[in-house]
Amino acid sequence: SQNWVFMVTAQTPTNIAVIKYWGKRDETLILPINDSISVTLDPSHLCTTTTAAVSPAFHQDRMWLNGKEISLSGGRFQSCLREIRARACDVEDETKGIKITKEDWGKLHVHIASYNNFPTAAGLASSAAGFACLAYALGKLMNVKEDESQLSAIARQGSGSACRSLFGGFVKWIMGKEDNGSDSLAVQLTDEKHWDDLVIVIAVVSSRQKETSSTTGMRESVETSLLLQHRAKEIVPKRILQMEEAIKNRDFASFSQLTCADSNQFHAVCLDTCPPIFYMNDTSHRIISIVEKWNRSEEAPQVAYTFDAGPNAVLIARNRNAATSLIQRLLYYFPPNSDDLSRF
Ligand code: PMV
Repeated sequence: SQNWVFMVTAQTPTNIAVIKYWGKRDETLILPINDSISVTLDPSHLCTTTTAAVSPAFHQDRMWLNGKEISLSGGRFQSCLREIRARACDVEDETKGIKITKEDWGKLHVHIASYNNFPTAAGLASSAAGFACLAYALGKLMNVKEDESQLSAIARQGSGSACRSLFGGFVKWIMGKEDNGSDSLAVQLTDEKHWDDLVIVIAVVSSRQKETSSTTGMRESVETSLLLQHRAKEIVPKRILQMEEAIKNRDFASFSQLTCADSNQFHAVCLDTCPPIFYMNDTSHRIISIVEKWNRSEEAPQVAYTFDAGPNAVLIARNRNAATSLIQRLLYYFPPNSDDLSRF
């Protein structure tokens, strides 16, 4: 019969890099020029929920994002779909009388509906959660037997940073050596319980969409920035080892020093790109100054800051007390006015 629909729903949080990925050695396969490390956020904030469905009544692959249909014709969606379909296995649900064989998957079409519980346009790493969730939901739908790391190598082909969202806690994306990308995948360093004192606060500085996409920005940096070459070869490999050590030992002083330095170096690379790319704005710079001054006035650092390809600040507080004090300071320096509140 044509009357059945089989579906799977998955939820994936976004992740924030503390050692940044910036620069590809292969743009199609999305292979990076250095390893990176991130922390995955709590699923109750900034996450994507994706339902993937299959039915003999569907005549083409289709996708909706936040209720609006989007095109699946882009190479990145096609790579994810192709890679998952190639690994599809038999599915049998006796209670519903559904049987889909390996061969059927090549002929059946899927419908995908995806929702972000945060503004997609705010430049808050929506593609990371999105493609991780897409790969995971399709993998479950098609009964793919691959583990999270192998799925991460598929999510990677949607958006590089997405590969790190297949795991919770702290995650490393290993750049890999192979030209075909088979060893460019994510591994979990520690689970979400390992360092649960940390509190992440996101200060939305601007909800405008970024002017330079990460794809264009990376391409221009790879082509023109000598600082990026130096960073990838000489700086990041050492920082990765130091960061792994800091995470393992829950050493917040080292962790925050490395996180802030790496964010600043990434933005220095953007300035070193021709033409220069400005992702941070005056408010971002003020937040950096406030945190730096505060950290220096205490016996030990209280908060780490990091900024991705946009002006919004991701602030990682050492514990709840530090997070409370951080929010009080932000409200003191940036008092909410009626203009801002009208957005809510
Ligand atoms: O995966 P993309 O193309 O969204 O690039 C992400 C780049 C940064 O967010 C700036 C750094 C990172 O490692 O996530």
